[in-house]
Amino acid sequence: MRKVSNIPLIALLFLLFCVGCSHRPQEYRIGVSQCLDDAWRQKMNEEMERELLLYPNMTISHRRIAYGSNELQCAQIDSFIQERIDLLIVSPNEAAEVKPAVARAYRAGIPVIVADRRVSGDEWTAFIGGDNYQVGVLMADWVRKVQSETNHPLHVLEVCGLPGSTPATKRHQGLMDSLAASGEVMPEIISLQGQWMKEDAYEVVRAYLREHKNIDAIVAQNDLMAVGSAEAVRDSKGYGAGGVRIMGVDGIFPGLKAIADGKIECTATYQSRGDLIIETAAHILYGEPFVRDTVLETNMIDQGAAGPMLMQYMNRLHDLETFKIVQTNTDAHWQQMRFEQTVLVVIIVLVALLFFAALGLIVYIQRKIQNEIKKDILPQLEDVQEAIQLSKRDEAFGERMRQVVEDHLTDPNLNVEYLASKLQLSRTQIFRRVKTITGKGPLDYIRERRLVRAHHLLQTTDMTVQQVALELCFSSPGYFTKCYKAYFGHLPSKQ
Ligand code: FRU
Repeated sequence: MRKVSNIPLIALLFLLFCVGCSHRPQEYRIGVSQCLDDAWRQKMNEEMERELLLYPNMTISHRRIAYGSNELQCAQIDSFIQERIDLLIVSPNEAAEVKPAVARAYRAGIPVIVADRRVSGDEWTAFIGGDNYQVGVLMADWVRKVQSETNHPLHVLEVCGLPGSTPATKRHQGLMDSLAASGEVMPEIISLQGQWMKEDAYEVVRAYLREHKNIDAIVAQNDLMAVGSAEAVRDSKGYGAGGVRIMGVDGIFPGLKAIADGKIECTATYQSRGDLIIETAAHILYGEPFVRDTVLETNMIDQGAAGPMLMQYMNRLHDLETFKIVQTNTDAHWQQMRFEQTVLVVIIVLVALLFFAALGLIVYIQRKIQNEIKKDILPQLEDVQEAIQLSKRDEAFGERMRQVVEDHLTDPNLNVEYLASKLQLSRTQIFRRVKTITGKGPLDYIRERRLVRAHHLLQTTDMTVQQVALELCFSSPGYFTKCYKAYFGHLPSKQ
C-alpha cells in the first residue's frame, strides 16, 4: 500500500524535473548608472533600449540616475554590486570621485562599460565616448573664425561643465591648446562653471555680464548651457539680440532648435551611441572579442546644417514614438505568451498529477481486491472444491457399497464386519459413510434392501413367504413378516 501511494509522487517529481530541465538561454541583467537625466542621456537610454530588442536574453534590470551627485552614484553602483548584476554601464559624474565604486564593481567580477565621461584609473572593461579634445579644437576653430570676422582680439566666455568630469577638462584643453598652437592673436578666454546645467550657466553668465560689458562670444561646453547663456545675454542690459555669438556642444534637439531659433550660432556633435554600448555589452557577456577603448568622432554643425538635421531629428522622434508603441505592443504580446505558457505548464502538471493519482488508485484497488480474494474467497472456493471431491468419493463408495450389498443379500454373513472387510474400511468408517450416503445405519440399510428383494421375489417367482424369508436370511418367517409390514405397510403376499 505504501509503495502504491509513492508512484504518483515520484512521477510528479520526475515531471517537474523534466520541466525544470527544459533548456533556457542564459539571462543577463544589466545595470545602468547615469550621472544626469537630460535630453542627451535620454537619447542614449533610448538607443540602448532599441538595441536591446536584438538581444532578448539581455535586459536593463535597473537604470539609476545620480542627478549630479557623486555620493549617490557610488551608493547606486554599490547596490548594483549587491544585486549581482551581470554587467554595469556607467557614465560617471566625476572621474575621481566615482572611481572607488566603479573599481569595487570591477573587482567584484562585474564587467564595467564606462560611457561618455571617463573614470580615473583603469579598473574598467571598456570605454565608449566622444572625442572631447577634438570638441575643444572645433571650439577653437570657431573662435578664430569669429575673431577673423570681428577684426579685433575677442573676449570669450567659456562656460564649462563639472570640473571633475573628463569632457569638461578635455574640451577646455582642446580649446586652449588649439588656440595657442594657431599662432594667431590669442583671444581672451574667461572660464565660468556651468556644471553642465542650463540654469547654472544662466546664473554665472548673467552674474558676469552685470560686471563686464565687453563680451564678444561664448563657447558653452554643451547645448543646454549655450541656451542658458543665450537667455542670460538676452536678459542683460547692453546686449542686443545676436550681439554675442554663441557655440554649444551635443547637436541634438535642444541645440538644433536653438540654432533654428537664432539663439545660438552653431554646435559640435557629441555622439551618445547607446546602440554601440549594448553591442559591446553583448560581446563582453558572450565572451567575444571587443574594442576596449572607442573614441567617437565629432563634427561642426552650423546654421546651414542645423535645419535639415532638426527635420531629421523630428522624424526620428516620430519613429521613436512609433517604436515605443510597437515595443509596448510587443511587450504585452510577450507577457500574454508567457502567461499562457505558465497556464499550460500548470494544466499539464495538474493533468499528470490526476493521471498518476488515478493510476495509483487503480493499483491500490486492484491489490485490495487481490488481498480480499486471497483471504476470503479462495478458502471458500477450496471448501467447495473439497466438498465436490468428497461427494465424488462418496458417490463412488456408495456405488461399490450398494453393489456388495446387492450381491450378498442372500448371504447370511452380510453384516457390518463383512462390509468393512469387503470395502477395506473400519467398522466405524462403514457406519459413518453408509449413514452419510443412505441416511441410515448399515444394518437398517441391508434389511431394507433384503425386504425390497423379498418383495421382488414374491412378485416374480413361485416362492412362498417362508422360502423368501429363508432365502434372504431373516431369522424367522414371523420376523420377516413383521419387518415387511413395517416397511411396506401390508403383509407379504403375492398380488
Ligand atoms: C549630458 C551632458 C552632455 C555633455 C555630456 C558630457 O548629461 O552634459 O550635454 O556633452 O554630458 O559628459
